[in-house]
Amino acid sequence: MAIASVTGMQCVSAQDAFMIGKDVAVFYPEGYDARQHEPSPIFVVDFERTEDVAGGWRIRPEFSINGGKSVARIAVGKEVDFYGNGEVAGQLRRNGKEVKFWNTDAPKYEVDGGKRLYQSHPWVLVVRRDGTAFGVIADNTWKSSVRMDEEEITFESEGPAFRVVIIEKGSPAEVLKELADLTGHIEMPPLWALGYQQCRWSYFPDTRVKEIADSLRLHRIPSDVIWMDIDYMDNFKVFTFDKERFPDPKDLNDYLHERGFKTVWMIDPGVKVEEGYRIDDEGTKMDYWVKDANGKPYEGEVWPGQCHFPDFTRPEVREWWGSLYKDYMATGIDGVWNDMNEPAIFNVETSTMPEDNRHEGGGGLAAGPHLRYHNSYGLNMVKASREGILEANPEKRPFVLTRSNFLGGHRYAATWTGDNASDPSLMKMSVPMTINLGLSGQPFNGPDIGGFFDDCTPELLAQWTAMGVYFPFVRNHSAAGTRQQEPWAFGEETLDVCRTAINRRYRLLPYIYTLFREAYEDGVPVMRPAFFADVKDAALRKEQEAFLLGGDLMVVPRWAENPAMPAGDWRRIVLEDGTDDGYQAMLYQRPGSIIPIANLSQNTTEYSTDSLTLLVNLDGDGKACGRLYEDEGEGFGFRDGEYADFALSASCAGDEVIVSVTQTNGNMHKGRKRIRVGLVMPDGIVYSQWTGGRTVRVGR
Ligand code: GLC
Repeated sequence: MAIASVTGMQCVSAQDAFMIGKDVAVFYPEGYDARQHEPSPIFVVDFERTEDVAGGWRIRPEFSINGGKSVARIAVGKEVDFYGNGEVAGQLRRNGKEVKFWNTDAPKYEVDGGKRLYQSHPWVLVVRRDGTAFGVIADNTWKSSVRMDEEEITFESEGPAFRVVIIEKGSPAEVLKELADLTGHIEMPPLWALGYQQCRWSYFPDTRVKEIADSLRLHRIPSDVIWMDIDYMDNFKVFTFDKERFPDPKDLNDYLHERGFKTVWMIDPGVKVEEGYRIDDEGTKMDYWVKDANGKPYEGEVWPGQCHFPDFTRPEVREWWGSLYKDYMATGIDGVWNDMNEPAIFNVETSTMPEDNRHEGGGGLAAGPHLRYHNSYGLNMVKASREGILEANPEKRPFVLTRSNFLGGHRYAATWTGDNASDPSLMKMSVPMTINLGLSGQPFNGPDIGGFFDDCTPELLAQWTAMGVYFPFVRNHSAAGTRQQEPWAFGEETLDVCRTAINRRYRLLPYIYTLFREAYEDGVPVMRPAFFADVKDAALRKEQEAFLLGGDLMVVPRWAENPAMPAGDWRRIVLEDGTDDGYQAMLYQRPGSIIPIANLSQNTTEYSTDSLTLLVNLDGDGKACGRLYEDEGEGFGFRDGEYADFALSASCAGDEVIVSVTQTNGNMHKGRKRIRVGLVMPDGIVYSQWTGGRTVRVGR
């Protein structure tokens, strides 16, 4: 053990370190106490020593205790770019930034200068000049922070000394794959969750919800989901329905289902303190609440007034909470929105519960203070929700959206980036925010399109929707008291812009669904930074206006001022003819790629890939390839082979291009598709006739 003295603090190199796989090393500080950190919510694997860390291993933490804080400093070398950090405000590139890991209700991202948001991901992805990359995980839920200085990363924690995991790989994509192997891969989402979603705080009563659904269809806005925010509840009591406003939730869900919609309803963690309210009575009787420092059930104020908070560290509490979803989902609810789960508390300066509140733990998890369990409160809640929903509907893929979460929590829920505002700067910031979450293991996320707080403008909604449809999660949401924000609320021109954009989303679904399959398989984000197109191109490392949707499509928002584009013959594609409205994000297709596109549908129930357009942008050698993954878009049959995976390929023969579609995997046979090819030329797309074959020949 090496001990050095640096300005009074005690520095110790790792007391123990070993490999837990070919390119993954774990380092333990002196005095490491597993009971203070394990079982970790981050990992899905046990750490088994495969061998010692080789002498040549480059990235090693140095541990110390400094001013009562546990510190891990990691020298990273010169000229590196930092990314990740989970949900963060500000630039894509994290060099010079500090992030505080203390999940916080952060309206407009203004709390603490934007250093603390709703989620914590003690994770840094580091990319070297040569394109090789490594990732650093601080396996620590305690209140902490990270700083990314010029040549050094520093994690600092108010809790006991923690271990550090380093992943060392040849590229950022490989690091993310390893991150998924260690922390879990996302589940395949239901296909409907990739559609356009309409939300507001709140649509009520039920007749208003029906009106919104009818308007979406009337205006021919393709859409899949309507969201129910808190006002559907009886006095904000979770798992209840307001008798006047929502007398028959099943009838409402049926109405919406008949029109091709799914519904997502909100459930917060705070349970109103009220005798005679079943959930509160049960939780009190079973003694399931988080306790204050004196061991009494803690009470804090949220929407319903004084609330109790389930202690989600306890397996029996998670199970109980999960079981509450059974009757609830039986009303035909399709998905669940877990909000305020930092947990957010009103009327206290800290906007959360006291750090010395007590959690009981269980299932191997030690009892501990809120200081330890605050950051994983949301993760444990969505774990309970997901498991309960799955039990209620075992044939369906659960969909949970959460505001708070922690590294690893992508296993349980998708996320959105909390309460932004109708402000162009926040629209622009949503690009790096969504990308960095994707670079932190959470591919399924996006912002409130149009902005949550403040009044949106026609211009902003048009801009935001025209770009937002290329994000993984696409939901328009706005706060109570603000101007209505549906696509039709601003007149015909805005409505047309939004409709065109959303049409494009639906046409791209075969490609986007395939990207979710890639995220599920390889942990690679759906929305990626431009530098993923060429990791050695230094000019792309800071690009945060334009972004990649998958590997083959660059999206350039119309507001982008000076986007850096990858080298090569990326060609502009316009998904249907028509005059340019000046708002639609510009799409550029990678040379050598094939992108599968569907005919327009109004929702994913109606959506079909029986007719497919294959957009082909040949590379310099006259070749291109792509992939199409399909399954039922629901249920788990895909795990038993009920899917179809197609290789798409194109090559030139004389003055013809031969394009073929070959099923390479899966037992699902949907019959022959109608196919046409769109050859992407420098001045537009040239379409072939539709054919019924697996091979299409088109003239060049
Ligand atoms: C929180 C959520 C927001 C929601 C509101 C009312 O502010 O972040 O999305 O509309 O609560 O439930």
